[in-house]
Amino acid sequence: MAVGVILLGLLYLFAPSLGLDPTSYEYFTSDGISSGLSADQPYFTLNGKNITIYSGAMHYFRVPRAYWKDRLQKLRAAGLNTVETYIAWNLHEPENGVFDFGEGGSEMEDFLHLEELLTTAKEEDLFVILRSGPYICAEYNFGGFPSWLLREERMGFRTTEETYMKYVTRYFNTLLPILAKYQFTKGGPIIAFQVENEYGNQEYQTFLPQKEYLEELHQLFVQNSIVELLVTSDSPLSHQDKGTLPGVFLQTANLGASPEKQFEKLLELQPNRPLMVMEFWIGWFDFWGNDHATRDANTMKGIYERILTYPASVNIYMFHGGTNFGFTNGASLGNTLFDNSGFEPITTSYDYDSPLTESGDYTDKYFNIRELLIQHSPVKTYTPDVPNLNPKIAYPVISIEKEILLSNLIQYDAPYVIESENVVAMEKLDINGNSGQSYGYIVYRKENVDLAANTVLKIGGHICDTAVVSVNGVRVSPSLETKNDLDGFGFWRLADSTLVLTTDEKKGATVDILVENWGRINGGKITQYNQTFKGLWQGDVYLNDNRVSGWKIIPLEFKKSWTNNLEAWSSKTSSLGPALYYASLEISDEPSDTYIDMRSWTKGLVVVNGIPLGKYAKIGPQQALYLPAPFLKKGYNSIIVFEHYKSADQLSFTTGQIWKTA
Ligand SMILES: *[C@@H]1O[C@H](CO)[C@@H](O)[C@H](O)[C@H]1NC(C)=O
Ligand SMILES: *[C@@H]1O[C@H](CO)[C@@H](O)[C@H](O)[C@H]1NC(C)=O
Repeated sequence: MAVGVILLGLLYLFAPSLGLDPTSYEYFTSDGISSGLSADQPYFTLNGKNITIYSGAMHYFRVPRAYWKDRLQKLRAAGLNTVETYIAWNLHEPENGVFDFGEGGSEMEDFLHLEELLTTAKEEDLFVILRSGPYICAEYNFGGFPSWLLREERMGFRTTEETYMKYVTRYFNTLLPILAKYQFTKGGPIIAFQVENEYGNQEYQTFLPQKEYLEELHQLFVQNSIVELLVTSDSPLSHQDKGTLPGVFLQTANLGASPEKQFEKLLELQPNRPLMVMEFWIGWFDFWGNDHATRDANTMKGIYERILTYPASVNIYMFHGGTNFGFTNGASLGNTLFDNSGFEPITTSYDYDSPLTESGDYTDKYFNIRELLIQHSPVKTYTPDVPNLNPKIAYPVISIEKEILLSNLIQYDAPYVIESENVVAMEKLDINGNSGQSYGYIVYRKENVDLAANTVLKIGGHICDTAVVSVNGVRVSPSLETKNDLDGFGFWRLADSTLVLTTDEKKGATVDILVENWGRINGGKITQYNQTFKGLWQGDVYLNDNRVSGWKIIPLEFKKSWTNNLEAWSSKTSSLGPALYYASLEISDEPSDTYIDMRSWTKGLVVVNGIPLGKYAKIGPQQALYLPAPFLKKGYNSIIVFEHYKSADQLSFTTGQIWKTA
C-alpha cells in the first residue's frame, strides 16, 4: 500500500516528462481543499477551479461487490470524472429499525458496503454524486421504499405525513452521518447529493408536489452536516420548478432528446447558474412481455455531443445498468389506480442498452463516449487505458438431478405455517421482526375440503401478481406460454377471476394457491403506493360462491439459510411444477462469468449457491440470466430452479444475453 502511494507520488513528480496528465484529484486538490462544488455562477467550480461534470450512473446494488472496482475503472477509462448512484433504502433497512451497511446479516448484505464503494471510487479517480432518496424510482422494487412501511395505518409516501416522515428521519439520521465523512470538503469523493427524485412528476389533478416536504428533507441534510451541493432532477419543460426549492437546490434536467429546449427552460428558471443533465437516457429498461428496448448508438452520440458543446454537465443514465438480482425488480402500474390490472414487471436484466453491458462488456456507445470526451473535455486529466474484459464461459450442459414438488416443500420444508381465518397480504404477516414478508412467494393452503364435480374457485379482486393453483399437489391452473396468457386466469389483469378446479368429485382435498410477488411498483402516482400489497388481499376466496376461511399460510422467501438446508429432495421424476429442481455445476478452474440459458424452461426463479439470481420467463424479452463469477466457486455449485409450470431436464449455459423478439 505505502509503496504504491510513493510510486504514484513519484509518477506524478515526473509526470510532465512522461507526458502524463494529472489525475482528477491531483488537478483539483493538490493545493489543499477549501471549497466543494459550487453552482453560484453560470458554471460549476470545484475547489475554486472550473469543472464540467462528466458522470455515469452505476447502481452498486445491481453489480456484485467484487466487480465494483472493475466497473469503476472502465467508467474512468471512458473519460468520465464522476460516478452517480442511487441509494436503496429498502436494502439498507430491510426490517423496521434494522440497518445494514455491509455485514449486517441481511440477505443482500454483500451489496451494501457503501463506504467501500466510496473509497473505491476515489481510488479510481472518480468523484461521486449520491442520489439518496428517500424515494429513488430506478425501476427498483418499490422505488427503494421498504415494504414494511405498508404495515402502517397511515402512510403518506413522499409527503410531510407524520408517520412517513418519522421513518424517513430515522433512516436519514442513520445514513447521512455515514456519508458526511465522505464529502469532498472532508477529503472524500462526494461532490453533490440529490434530494428526492423527479418529484415534479407528481404534479397531477389530485396532487401537487409539496414544497414543505422538500424543505423537511432539506433540514435533515443540514442537521446531518451535509455541506456539499444539493440538487433535484426532473424535466423543467414539463414541470417547471414544481419539484424543487429554487435558491436552495440546484435544479437539473432529465432527458433523452432535445437538450437545448430543456436548457433554455432551466436558464429561464435559474439564470446565472450552471446547467446539468442528471439523467441522459442513452437506453431504456425492459418489461416482461415486451420487446427489448434499445437506443441507437449514433443517435446517442449526436445528442451527447450537443450536450457537451452547449456546454453542460451530464450524467449518463445508465452507464452500466447491471442486474435486478433476486427479487429487486420494480414494476409499473400504468394508468390504473389501485387495482393492479395495469401491472407491468421490469425484467431481471437491467442492461439498459448501456455503454457497458450487464456483464461489463464494451459496446459502441462506450467508445463513442470516450472519443467525444477526449475531444471536448476542457481540462486534460489522465485517462487510463481501457481495461481488459473478464472472460465469459459457456459451461457444459448439466442435468437436473433432484426435485421437490411444492406439496412436499410445504410438508417437509415450510419455514413457517401461519394459521389465518382469511387470506392476507404478505406484508401483513407477523414475521421478520414484525416487518412482514417483503419478497418471494406466499402459499395459501386450504386443507380437507370436499370438492364437488366442476367446483369453481373464485379469487376476489386482482391477484398480486401471479397465482398457480394445485389440487392434491397437481397443478390445475394454466401455464404462461405466451404473453396473451397474461389475460387469463392466474395473472393480475382479471378481476374476480375463476377457475374450474376439478371435473370429478374430490373429498378431503388440499387446495394450494401459490402467489408470486413479481416486483413492487417503482413509480406512478403516490396515491397508488400505499395500496401495493402482494399476495391475495383484495377480496375473499370462494369455492362455488362459498367464502373460504381457515387457511394455512406459508411464506416462501428463499432466504439463503432456508434454500441451503432443504431436506425433501428426491430424484427427478416429473417436469410438472410448481417444483424445485436441483443441478450441480462442477468447476475445476477459477470460475468465470456465464449466462444460464432459460429458453427451455417456462417461468420461475433461479438460485445459485443460495443467492437468488433472478426471475426468468420464456415470454421474454430476456431469455438468459447473467451469472457472475463471484457467485460461483471452484468445485461444486448448487443451482436450484423454482419452476412454476413445466421444467426442462437440463440447464445450459451461454456467453451473453439472449433477447427474444415478439
Ligand atoms: C471558467 O469558465 C468561465 C465560463 O466559461 C470562464 O469565463 C472563466 O474564464 C473560466 N475560468 C477559468 C479560471 O478558466
Ligand atoms: C394513501 O396515500 C394517499 C395520498 O398520500 C392518502 O390520501 C391516503 O390517506 C393514504 N392512505 C393510507 C391508508 O395511508
